[in-house]
Amino acid sequence: MAEILRIYGGHRLEGTVVVNGGKNAALAIIPAALLSSEPCTIENLPQVRDTEALADILRELGAKVSLKGSTMTIDPRGVNCSTVPEELACRLRASYYFVGALLACFGRADVSYPGGCAIGNRPIDQHIKGFEALGAKVSTDRGVISARAEGGLSGAEIYLDMPSVGATINIMLAATRAQGNTTIVNAGKEPHIVDLANFINAMGGQVKGAGTDTIRIRGGRPMHGCTYAVIPDQIESGTLMIAAAATHGDVLIRGALPTHMEALTAKLLEMGARVDEGVGEDSIRVRSDGNHRHVNIKTLPYPGFPTDLQQPMSALLSTARGTSIINETIFEMRHKHLEEIRRMGGISQVNERIAIIEGVPKLTGCSVTASDLRAGAALVVAGLMAEGVTDIHNVQFIDRGYEHLEKKLRSLGAKIERITDEG
Ligand code: UD1
Repeated sequence: MAEILRIYGGHRLEGTVVVNGGKNAALAIIPAALLSSEPCTIENLPQVRDTEALADILRELGAKVSLKGSTMTIDPRGVNCSTVPEELACRLRASYYFVGALLACFGRADVSYPGGCAIGNRPIDQHIKGFEALGAKVSTDRGVISARAEGGLSGAEIYLDMPSVGATINIMLAATRAQGNTTIVNAGKEPHIVDLANFINAMGGQVKGAGTDTIRIRGGRPMHGCTYAVIPDQIESGTLMIAAAATHGDVLIRGALPTHMEALTAKLLEMGARVDEGVGEDSIRVRSDGNHRHVNIKTLPYPGFPTDLQQPMSALLSTARGTSIINETIFEMRHKHLEEIRRMGGISQVNERIAIIEGVPKLTGCSVTASDLRAGAALVVAGLMAEGVTDIHNVQFIDRGYEHLEKKLRSLGAKIERITDEG
């Protein structure tokens, strides 16, 4: 039966919370373990649906996978198959990283089209351009991405039309086994791209420049096993920071890396919240008296404001003084949660990628439905702020990317429970 999150709003969040490992980093690193000739142990994984889905794909391919809490050990030595079937691929977006990883390992890959959040058109032309530049032949017939490089891959210089996170990761994976050097120009700079580079290097690969817009990969290096801990989750950190401000709270978020959070921190400060870096450890403390000013936000590739935090942030802006303008430049359908927040008394208008939010004094709880992962997070923030009871449907979206979100919020003083929807 379906589950819902029920939030009794208006409770201040206070205390300390620990961030889990990065979901998007984990989703790149788990397929990369196929590149090793020995088992790899990956620590600090978030316990979310998406990482479990990748473990299922690895098992289907023939790998031995043990998942205990936040640690996954992957032994790729039994992998004998280069096909990811539809029922597994469609469970998440990151299943398409197996194209890059399998192409590197076997010179062939057949991966059904990925799933993931319906937040707009999500083409993969830059991934394909990269694989083709490395010498693969790629077709996308009947919903399957098929790539072939029977004679092996060769290093190349690849310019991305936009700094696509997914294309950067997929090309990095494939290029590790190409003969010679590959350069990705206009690469994504997101923290999880750097984390993947560090993991590949820990296995014996050679990736330089990750975190800048030019990444250089020396191909063909032998890869051995390693133990690697994933970075903390940038988006969970940000969601908790926003929730702290939204409830006029005082929360210390342990594990959050301040350098990854600069765009959000700047906007929270502009709104009138207090944000301080922890002393002596990676942590961020957010305090607010709730007297928030409106701000404008334009989503951009890292280090700009992350599109994944735009939705929770727009929930917070629903009760800020004045009019906020949000320009979503990355995905065209990332304002659907505002329809739900309007049901709670929010005032907003959406014109394609632009959302105009008129702050109201308060939201009122009601029954709302998450349309995707971060829309779900936005509705949680709205529910925490609202007067009365908010029921959030489609919790499965939230579970794809947040580990025990309601438990963490409860530990900070939120009144939130997961109940079975009898209706
Ligand atoms: C990743 C993140 C997602 C985040 C997004 C932007 C993962 C698993 N997901 O998604 O949470 O919201 O980055 O930070 O890490 N594009 C093309 N052609 C391509 C590839 C992308 O036109 O071949 C466009 C997309 O439509 C989008 C933009 O480029 O408009 C950015 O997409 P991309 O950076 O690739 O996002 P994802 O990797 O899908």
